[in-house]
Amino acid sequence: MPETRKIYFGTNTKMYMTIAKTVNFVTELQQRTKEISRDRVTLFVIPSFTALDAANRCISPERIRLGAQNMCWEDAGPFTGEISPLMLKEVGVQIVEIGHSERRHVFLETDEMENQKVRCALRHGLTPLLCIGETAEEKRHGLSYEVLRKQLKHGLFGVTSRQARNLMIAYEPVWAIGAKGVPAPKEYVSRQHAVIRALLVECFGRHVAESVPLLYGGSVNKENAVEIKRQDNVDGLFIGRSAWDAANFEEIIRKVLAEA
Ligand code: PGA
Repeated sequence: MPETRKIYFGTNTKMYMTIAKTVNFVTELQQRTKEISRDRVTLFVIPSFTALDAANRCISPERIRLGAQNMCWEDAGPFTGEISPLMLKEVGVQIVEIGHSERRHVFLETDEMENQKVRCALRHGLTPLLCIGETAEEKRHGLSYEVLRKQLKHGLFGVTSRQARNLMIAYEPVWAIGAKGVPAPKEYVSRQHAVIRALLVECFGRHVAESVPLLYGGSVNKENAVEIKRQDNVDGLFIGRSAWDAANFEEIIRKVLAEA
């Protein structure tokens, strides 16, 4: 793997931050990370839809990339409650999170839906951040590999190798996410990331597959971030709770960079 790989750090603020809170958070995060070279690091924040415009006005896209938590697969039409890629682009969004565990398990999105969203994002020049991961039950039944294969193969169906250069993948085991989550052991992360990389090779060939950033998410914190990032095939960290305080997020970023 090339030594100059960038390290990715991102957070999804889920449904926790108002516009005012988001503005404070991204402003402070940008300030705290201002002298960290973006040749080394890609930093992104994925706030709620209502906060995107305000966040976009107070960050520089080269310093912090802006993402959306979800998106419809159509540009316009009778889709009450949905948001179009055109609307997201209008407010400076570059990344679209697709298939987060809460979308799949609380809102019952299917692999086919995630696939339509991935393809739509790529059509519009947005970077899909496709999230995949097995539940505790699937893991207990020894089905983790099958789940990752299915979510990845369905989710990326019809994506060309050329388009895949603009993809990001997050591996987030469902059982590791949130307050009740148990952080995945580093050996487990390493194994699953190797599996995902191999599946990407199957889809796009080695060269393209190795260029796809593969992030780990699920109870990442100050204590485990360095060890997780050290694993082969972990290109970055996708963090929830531990990143929502800008000082804490900065500390994680600096710790990981110091050890990289
Ligand atoms: P967590 O969330 O870091 O709070 O576990 C991760 C996620 O849902 O992406």
